[in-house]
Amino acid sequence: MQNPISFHEHILEEKTLSPEVRTDIERILDDLLIAVKSIHNKLSRAGLIDIQGEAGSENASGDAVKKLDRIAHEAVVSTLHAGGCVGFMASEEEKEIIGGSSDGKYVVVFDPLDGSSNIDANVSVGTIFSIYKRKNEAENANEQVLRRGSEQIVAGYVIYGSSTMLVYTVGAGTHGFTLDPSLGEFYLSHPHIQTPVDGTVYSINEVYEPHFSGAMKAFLSEIKEHGRYTGRYIGSLVADVHRNLLYGGIYIYPDKPKAKLRLLYEGFPMGWIVEQAGGAASNGTQKILDMIPAELHQRTQLVIGSKNDVARYEELVKQEELGTINA
Ligand code: AHG
Ligand code: MN
Ligand code: MN
Repeated sequence: MQNPISFHEHILEEKTLSPEVRTDIERILDDLLIAVKSIHNKLSRAGLIDIQGEAGSENASGDAVKKLDRIAHEAVVSTLHAGGCVGFMASEEEKEIIGGSSDGKYVVVFDPLDGSSNIDANVSVGTIFSIYKRKNEAENANEQVLRRGSEQIVAGYVIYGSSTMLVYTVGAGTHGFTLDPSLGEFYLSHPHIQTPVDGTVYSINEVYEPHFSGAMKAFLSEIKEHGRYTGRYIGSLVADVHRNLLYGGIYIYPDKPKAKLRLLYEGFPMGWIVEQAGGAASNGTQKILDMIPAELHQRTQLVIGSKNDVARYEELVKQEELGTINA
């Protein structure tokens, strides 16, 4: 690829951001990508250094914390603190909101390592983040962080896969950048990602099938009878959604028997990124981005991917509510 555009050059062209905000966002993302590169470096040597296995504690969601969850969390917090632009942070790995710089004008929420059950097996994992502007009128940390998904000004994920990629949006489309490890720089490799409106992949953990709703069972039998789909489920939200974003597909984490994914730092960023690529994200009855979390680690059903697939699932949920579904 001759003269690929670097992430820094690309963000300078993001006209949806005012010059002042763009400079701040570039600074925050620079800091975040320092943490990302350190996570990338550790992951590429995972079997050789002591970063696999459990950390011996539980996070706020009651998940067993992996050593690399902790390492990734600390890397992101320290680089964002050092940058001085962030007033409040929230992490999957911290029960409470983390205070930042008193004059920090932004809020950053993140899942430092997504799919961490896969680390020891060398399967793709990710980092997910969202940035909001600090609300001047609200000093209360909860009012600053528990925001409607549509208030995000930046959303992104990094997938640590066969290559390490950053996929992000500032509301002007969704763009992908690939890390050149020899240069330590991300270069534009997937401009203006557009996800197919009809999927060919469905991603769901079918071990929970006995608990699925009538709408979910009807949806899955339609998918299986259709003949266009194949089933793929990695168990890393970032990896499953990234593949479906590029190929066309739907990822569902249902709320029966129990919702698992967190609205603030999984549903919102992944939802905006997919919407900006022409896809959809809902909780089965409403757009994910229209929701407001009542508490930091609130869980949600997540139905995300190709627009027509998400719409079909929502139709079946409505039919079930009306009692007209023949599941
Ligand atoms: P995290 O590692 O950040 O807790 O996220 C794991 C999530 C998501 O990435 C993945 O799709 C899902 O958990 C897998 O859950 P199941 O093992 O229940 O299928
Ligand atoms: Mn996660
Ligand atoms: Mn995580």
